[in-house]
Amino acid sequence: MKLKDLYIDFFVSKGHKQIPSAPVVPENDPSVLFNTAGMQPLIPFLMGGRHPYGNRLCDYQKCIRTNDLEEVGDSTHHTFFEQLGNWSLGDYFKQEAIEWSFEFITEVLHMPIERLAVTVYGGSETIHSDEESYNKWLSLGIPETRIAKTIDDNFWIAGESGPCGPDTEMFYFRSDDEIPEAFDPEDDRWVEFWNDVFMEFYKDSEGNISELPKKNVDTGMGVERTVAILEGVDDNYKSSIWKEVIDLIASISGLSYEGNERSMRIIADHVRTAVFISADPTGIKPSNTDQGYILRRLIRRAIRHAKKLGIDVESEFLSEIAKVIINQYKDYYEELVQNEQVVYDCLHDEKERFNKTLEHGLKEFERVVKKGEDIDGENAFHLYDTYGFPIELTMELAEERGLKVDIEGFNEKFRAHQELSRTASSGKFKGGLAGNSEIETKYHTATHLLNAALKIVVGPDVHQKGSNITVERMRFDFSSDHKLSDEEKKQVEELVNGWIKEGLEVSVSEMSKESAIKSGAECMFIEKYPDVVTVYSIGNVSRELCGGPHVKNTSELGTFRIKKEEASSAGVRRIKAVLE
Ligand code: SER
Repeated sequence: MKLKDLYIDFFVSKGHKQIPSAPVVPENDPSVLFNTAGMQPLIPFLMGGRHPYGNRLCDYQKCIRTNDLEEVGDSTHHTFFEQLGNWSLGDYFKQEAIEWSFEFITEVLHMPIERLAVTVYGGSETIHSDEESYNKWLSLGIPETRIAKTIDDNFWIAGESGPCGPDTEMFYFRSDDEIPEAFDPEDDRWVEFWNDVFMEFYKDSEGNISELPKKNVDTGMGVERTVAILEGVDDNYKSSIWKEVIDLIASISGLSYEGNERSMRIIADHVRTAVFISADPTGIKPSNTDQGYILRRLIRRAIRHAKKLGIDVESEFLSEIAKVIINQYKDYYEELVQNEQVVYDCLHDEKERFNKTLEHGLKEFERVVKKGEDIDGENAFHLYDTYGFPIELTMELAEERGLKVDIEGFNEKFRAHQELSRTASSGKFKGGLAGNSEIETKYHTATHLLNAALKIVVGPDVHQKGSNITVERMRFDFSSDHKLSDEEKKQVEELVNGWIKEGLEVSVSEMSKESAIKSGAECMFIEKYPDVVTVYSIGNVSRELCGGPHVKNTSELGTFRIKKEEASSAGVRRIKAVLE
């Protein structure tokens, strides 16, 4: 039986309800590009909202962390991973959480106790040390010498602000060496594979800590690491998760894994992540901004490494690899089946685009580095702009020659072209709750107006499929079977601007989910909302279930303009709009 199934079965037997994995792109949190942890989609509930499935939840969640994308290539890093989690929303706390972690590890996974060690929170000036967890581990049979108290490493928060708390981390001694008596968390033969966070605090953006209304448990077990441990391999890519994919890359390239590990791992990892991004219901396509830029970087970096291995990059090798991955995960993620063709098309189209310039770009790169000098901003930008080399790719190529790239110079050129990618510079990967600047708040309200206008102009069957807000623009995905005509776009703009001029009041009320639905309030994923919901109303134009924040009056919004209307995925259109 697979680890995922063992885990879910175990926690279901302890009274947990399994919840589905949320999409990799967060639905209502513009502060992060991707879900970076299993807890991210659950933030509203960790903050006190009632979850429709109850107080004990478990799942496997698709996660993407791209802050060390360039590290991928060693034996442990991945951009995509699955996190197993069990949650208590104000239900059980440290005693049960640790007891069940221990029971699962030793009785279901059969990890020998002499190979286990844990860290617990050692306390700070403001928060006391976690004696309860310490004593619990002791009582379960973990010896004192294998329990380390640390401070910084044992306080968990996603990013800068949000729900947080002390944690206890579980480690496994993954080496044939003799196991040292005392556990040293810095010794990397000890591999951390599971983390129980006792989420009792909230840290705001100024750093103030307050208590959450309820004490929660948030745990996260990394699937790839744990499987590697269980299978006794010291290279994650040698575990059963990767075997088929690595074998395929070896057969396509005619090379063996040994000696070509780095490029093969990069191709394997990046194609898998590209599969999950492009299959996501949010309909991400390769582009030069945000999630689309990450997708582009992943595909292009995979192609570059395939070329290094001598793979014919004109062939459909990406889709061949994707097929194996889809097959492997399809029983767990139905979007992979639904969007299988979308994935192949995405990989094919991006490959075609990049191949047009790759060869020339590499020649141009050789010309630039011939003199052995570092790469200046002008040349780096030229490689980006003319040959489609993401700056990170140029940096990687330069590094292989022991050269540097003038990033500042590149950014200047980039800004001059008014396209500065927010992903490269902003803290968007760090996670956490939405920043919600004044302009983002305005876009939030404008999004509700746009939704209402589309229902009038296009038809009552229009539904929101996704939304993303940055300080520069709003993006709105909605169901529609046709491309909007110029006339329709004009009508939508006129309606929204009319409502802005009318100065409609925005009001908020709390009600039960049932009465919200009865009152005709709009919402995207009803099953995700707690029993008691907040509903924002704008005059009598719009009513939506929403966490806010919003402006007080539509007169604050300025002028609404549609900048672009395009296809997002099958049956889904995308509007990009601004407030001027
Ligand atoms: N949020 C914690 C983590 O990601 C535990 O789930 O490690």
